[in-house]
Amino acid sequence: MEGKKKTNETHILVIPFPIQGHINPMVQFAKRLASKGLRVTLIATTSISKTMQAPTSSVKIETISDGFEEGEKIESTDIYLERFRVGVSQSLVDLIEKQKGYAHPPKVLVYDAFMPWALDVAQRQGLHGAAFFTQSCAVCAVYYHVHQGALKIPIQDPTTSLPSMPLLGIDDMPSFVCDTASYPSLLNLVLIQFSNFQKANWLLFNTFDKLEEEVVKWMASQWPIKTIGPTVPSMYLDKRVDDDKDYGFNLFKPNVDACMEWLGTKEIGSVVYVSFGSMASLGDEQMEELAWGLKRSNSHFLWVVRESEGIKLPNNFTDETLDKGLVVTWCPQLDVLAHKAVGCFMTHSGWNSTLEALSLGVPMVVMPQWTDQKTNAKFVIDVWQVGVRVKVDEKGIVRKEEIELCIREVMEGERGTEIKKNAARWKELAREAVDEGGSSDKNIEEFVANLVGT
Ligand code: UDX
Repeated sequence: MEGKKKTNETHILVIPFPIQGHINPMVQFAKRLASKGLRVTLIATTSISKTMQAPTSSVKIETISDGFEEGEKIESTDIYLERFRVGVSQSLVDLIEKQKGYAHPPKVLVYDAFMPWALDVAQRQGLHGAAFFTQSCAVCAVYYHVHQGALKIPIQDPTTSLPSMPLLGIDDMPSFVCDTASYPSLLNLVLIQFSNFQKANWLLFNTFDKLEEEVVKWMASQWPIKTIGPTVPSMYLDKRVDDDKDYGFNLFKPNVDACMEWLGTKEIGSVVYVSFGSMASLGDEQMEELAWGLKRSNSHFLWVVRESEGIKLPNNFTDETLDKGLVVTWCPQLDVLAHKAVGCFMTHSGWNSTLEALSLGVPMVVMPQWTDQKTNAKFVIDVWQVGVRVKVDEKGIVRKEEIELCIREVMEGERGTEIKKNAARWKELAREAVDEGGSSDKNIEEFVANLVGT
């Protein structure tokens, strides 16, 4: 009783970096901490607070200014990131100062590792800090080696050998460390995660021990890391309805009814779900090849084409595929992946999409685009063996014939049967990790016990 009381007197703040692939796992983690009895406040910077679909009942939301005027145009990523740092640092100080007067002032800030300066703010205010890494341990390890100077960039060697990792080909490397010229600010963003991480009180990773066994062991031998994933809500993993179902903060509005009604009319395992996440943008030619490849696959398909991408769809495409496909601008991805009609996920291999597909046992056709996605794809194919990877031609395009071939291989082929078996096994292992007593659950319990004791 006393322990329970202490837990709900322990107040913790959680602040995500404002992009969809970072908001989702941190919102889910905040909810998981609340389900363990902690008092949790999720800090939404202005740009994301407006997008909240349904407030969660278990987590309190506080909006703080990110320092930008409404509708303000920012000239460059560098300027955006710097102004975001200055604006949010100040707002965080104000929020913590205000909350010091509360009956249960915050003790800890869980911050996105993309915002290492938030640790300095927290510690100056007398709070502990927990860094939350939203990408895979393998990808973080690559960035760590680059940050330490142990891995020279731009990477040009055909293969790279790193501790406790499979040999990585140049096409398995995060794009920022190969093409260092195109996105210097984003390269800096992923590297500064390691600028002060050793000063954080906890290092949390959205993965689970068995998934990245070797690299997790290697990291754990260096630092006291905790794997806490997958952050997929448990209601999707084992159908226990113990989470409040909501769509959290969606930067895009999902077409929930259209998707679920359409899926409801399809046979088990007959649909290819296609999505490239919240940021990737395909070229016009690639979009056209993808469209006709989906048509050629002869499978039903549910394709998320964000509003900004819609213009690239071939003119006659929607009419020609009315009987086979549904194109939406955003969907409730977890509900879609959990739907029995879905037999395959054609994905860009964003880390959340990868974890979600693994956790729900959905085989993948991977078509990585940039950032961490090629490394995730390498693990999907060679380590977890739950998918096939499309081949690009000499112009860097994946042709419609290749798309058809890969989809058929997963949906109909012999290899598909093997892949489905592996996917079912990973689904089981993901559930075990977060179930009571599983590796991630134990780590979260330990984290909570430490917090309460601080
Ligand atoms: C980005 C990077 O691409 C990714 O590689 C990195 O690890 C995190 O930042 P994003 O491209 O958006 O993320 O991909 P992903 O990590 O897969 O996250 C997308 C999230 O949006 C997932 O949680 C997914 O469930 C959700 N989503 C996607 C929807 O809810 N509906 C959709 O229609 C599409």
